[in-house]
Amino acid sequence: MSQWKGLLNEFGDWLDLRGVDTPITLMEGNTPLVPAHYLSERLGAEVFLKIEGANPTGSFKDRGMTMAISKAKAAGAKTVICGSTGNTSAAAAAFAAKADMACVVLVPEGKIALGKLAQAIMYGAEVVQIRGNFDRALSLARELTQHIPITIVNSINPDRIEGQKTGAFELVDALGEAPDILAIPVGNAGNITAYWRGFTQYHTAGKATKLPKMWGFQAAGSAPIVLGHRVDDPETIATAIRIGNPASWAPALLAVDESHGAIRAVTDEEILSAWAWLAKTEGVFCEPASAATIAGLIKFGVPANSKVVCVLTGNGLKDPDTAVNSASAPIVLDASLESLLTHLSK
Ligand code: F0G
Repeated sequence: MSQWKGLLNEFGDWLDLRGVDTPITLMEGNTPLVPAHYLSERLGAEVFLKIEGANPTGSFKDRGMTMAISKAKAAGAKTVICGSTGNTSAAAAAFAAKADMACVVLVPEGKIALGKLAQAIMYGAEVVQIRGNFDRALSLARELTQHIPITIVNSINPDRIEGQKTGAFELVDALGEAPDILAIPVGNAGNITAYWRGFTQYHTAGKATKLPKMWGFQAAGSAPIVLGHRVDDPETIATAIRIGNPASWAPALLAVDESHGAIRAVTDEEILSAWAWLAKTEGVFCEPASAATIAGLIKFGVPANSKVVCVLTGNGLKDPDTAVNSASAPIVLDASLESLLTHLSK
């Protein structure tokens, strides 16, 4: 068999796999890098889209979760827990199922996209909706680990960041070099941290001769890093990044400083407009949170002719409600050729 073997088998030499004999894998990673012709033209640059929604559970979280669950299993853990805005919980539930482990997920009631909730339920997790936001869910998950034998698989678990470095490895392997700019949405700030570690590791090893500028984007209503202070009641339509107190705040700032990058904010309006535009032009349907990158590039522009990669972190199918509610309902016609011809000839 010559199929892709999953991230821990493919990138084992670059990851800390101590203790792991048998990786728990759903054959995650190896996601498409799609040249974005329309966006490139619009920005006067060379832009690529990293389609992380093509991972087995539909988001980049599978990269960190194959690592975190493999390590937890190897260490003898029986149950894992996470607080989540939806994607971490979907990935944790799926990999825990594959590992024959139990999984508890804490999610903010009414604030996670429908597809993500469906996933955690179907993968058999114990799903608990809390009357509180993500930040509260994460702090409760942390507290629980002090009281019961349970392993936390949020990105405060270093194995998560370790696995997510592979996104950077794949980019350099595909492009033959690091891009000039990496555009990435920022929520809990784990992924921007992981990509930077991946790029610097490859650079140190001579696999890339340069390092990208890290450009992070937060939703304006949930932009603690941009504002420089915690946001107690974060709000945004992009529920994946509705986070007011990111756990990886300090390492994310370090990534930005070291790379001469920036973290900036885009409004919900800008996100929704970039999201719809991307689907209609490039044929790529991502999550609203992922489209924060597109909105950011359109809003702030990029240096002429630079090579840019946008990390589109999650699949658009995760959040059908926001998609359907943001457009007018499709027309309903009688089931006759005549009515169709009349309608289409208008
Ligand atoms: N994009 C999507 C689709 C996400 O689900 C997340 C985070 C991010 C971007 C931001 O990544 O947190 O590493 O800065 N989702 C987490 C979750 C918080 O619970 O699924 P980050």
